[in-house]
Amino acid sequence: MTRPKPLVAGNWKMNGVGASLAELDRLADGLSQTPASCDVMICPPATLIAAARARAAGSITIGGQDCSPEPSGAFTGDVSAEMLKDAGASAVIVGHSERRQLHGETDAAVRAKASAARRAGLTAIICVGETLEQRDAGNAVAIVTAQVAASVPADAAPEWVVVAYEPVWAIGTGRTPSPADVEAMHGAIRAALRGRYGAQADGFRLLYGGSVKPANAAELMGCTDVDGALVGGASLKAADFLGIIKAYAT
Ligand code: PGA
Repeated sequence: MTRPKPLVAGNWKMNGVGASLAELDRLADGLSQTPASCDVMICPPATLIAAARARAAGSITIGGQDCSPEPSGAFTGDVSAEMLKDAGASAVIVGHSERRQLHGETDAAVRAKASAARRAGLTAIICVGETLEQRDAGNAVAIVTAQVAASVPADAAPEWVVVAYEPVWAIGTGRTPSPADVEAMHGAIRAALRGRYGAQADGFRLLYGGSVKPANAAELMGCTDVDGALVGGASLKAADFLGIIKAYAT
């Protein structure tokens, strides 16, 4: 199977108001000046999805940051995958470590959310990653491959599932694993997917996330089995995000 087209996705987390959408104009400008061979996505807060979709020029796609597993109903404060789709999203992040840690989301809950994305016609960007304690104990690969096994739905396919490896200790800390550690983990995730989905596994996009910056993007994106990035802090300013996308400049 041919290698998947890389994806560089920006996760704005709980940052951004209407005025922040000017960054999308700057991003589109930069992309028109320096074309890249990757897909580019911004995941703003849910309140901005419709406006972001209307504003984002060119090929920039818009994603959500979380969704309910339910399509509708009495779930005050929740947003369904169908609602994200209706607002203009084409993807949704599920199982981000901040959701797992701050909202107690289990692998089963993450799997249900991924299936909800599929039901609504969205791509599910499923996040996995170990804590520092788990890495220090030598359990990182076992933990992450177990998360993949339990969080990725049985009927997953490259057309609608992306897996993002985000070591919890690298998120927002400025610390990153070595390229060798990234390659080892992505290789283990790919092998786990191969065991489950056969040759199709090579088509899944495996993103790396956690303190990706312009200064380290080329090295991280150059790792074997890394098919793009999930970027937090450095996606808030178009100039930084473009510096990461440059790793895929054509
Ligand atoms: P960071 O966040 O790039 O700010 O480390 C990554 C993420 O949480 O997706």
